[in-house]
Amino acid sequence: MKERSTVSTEAPVKIAITGAAGQICYSLLFRIASGSLLGDRPIELRLLEITPALKALEGVVMELDDCAFPNVVNIEIGDDPSKVFDGVNLAMLVGAMPRKAGMERSDLLSANGAIFTGQGRALNDVAADDVKVLITGNPANTNALIALKNAPDIPANRFNALTRLDHNRAISQLAAKVGVPVTDISHMTIWGNHSATQYPDLFNTLVGDRVAADVVNDQAWIEGEFIPKVAKRGAAIIEARGLSSAASAANATVEHMRDWVLGTPANDWVSMSVPSDGSYGVPEGIISSFPCTVTDGEYTIVQGLEINEFSRARIDASVAELVDERDAVTELGLI
Ligand code: NAD
Ligand code: LMR
Repeated sequence: MKERSTVSTEAPVKIAITGAAGQICYSLLFRIASGSLLGDRPIELRLLEITPALKALEGVVMELDDCAFPNVVNIEIGDDPSKVFDGVNLAMLVGAMPRKAGMERSDLLSANGAIFTGQGRALNDVAADDVKVLITGNPANTNALIALKNAPDIPANRFNALTRLDHNRAISQLAAKVGVPVTDISHMTIWGNHSATQYPDLFNTLVGDRVAADVVNDQAWIEGEFIPKVAKRGAAIIEARGLSSAASAANATVEHMRDWVLGTPANDWVSMSVPSDGSYGVPEGIISSFPCTVTDGEYTIVQGLEINEFSRARIDASVAELVDERDAVTELGLI
């Protein structure tokens, strides 16, 4: 493992990031280093890559150095998770193969799932007691389940998966439809899986102080345009760019971890994929997206929301897919 040290008077937060030479991280690392994640706090970056990508990663580190970010007190890189994850407080697991045009994210299960067994075990063995782990690499929900199951000594609620990108996409589409700034939208929820079955719920979302579904007042748009557009946005970006989303994925990864550490805004919630405790009839244990608030670094699933028949059917369909994915990785021997 290579090391570059500068002097710091405060203990830095140790942040592991995997897939560090990849396209998401080319945006993510610079956002984190510049303070978008933790503000004005010293940080140490622990960057994991596979061996053939270490040279490219050295180039990324040269660029980080060239930014002279004041809060970055140390950067270490390596290809051994048991060294890179040693003592880390936050772990952002991005490194995994992205899908190509024509694939569904679940097609990546056998290719990517195994990455998260070894990384789960390494986190279990060497991460700090307070570690929080966020999985971005696809299929994110089930990869998080794999990591969690391979880290029996870390509490299950320290493993989250990313559906914040879907949450942000849904806010943006709704704001454009009703002609308001995104800041007028609150209480958005993505339910279920980060996949084409996900359900962005406009029946609990607010536009100002009004229920979004009432403001839209167009069920055909909700069913025929809004839901598919949000759920298939990743594929649309791959089609247009020839590469999967990167800067927006990095932004969502920062926002999810920032809110998990520093807390969610007052009078709002965010979508986080977390281990189900059985809330809203989602089978316990699978990692599914819920409306969550965070206080003092602990998330809580928002309780008591009304789920109408339309929403129920869509949540159930996405959850059924998560159960199938869980069964598939069980059969592959990954959990
Ligand atoms: P990329 O191919 O540009 O980069 C991935 C990097 O991971 C590569 O540099 C690769 O060498 C590295 N890697 C592979 N195996 C690794 C391992 N075992 N340990 C450490 N690093 C490893 O891909 P990308 O565009 O950065 O996307 C990364 C992942 O994030 C993909 O699976 C993609 O589908 C997913 N993604 C998720 C979301 C989301 O919202 N959850 C959004 C966008 C992308
Ligand atoms: C996204 O939602 O943009 C990512 O999960 C990439 C993908 O495969 O869609």
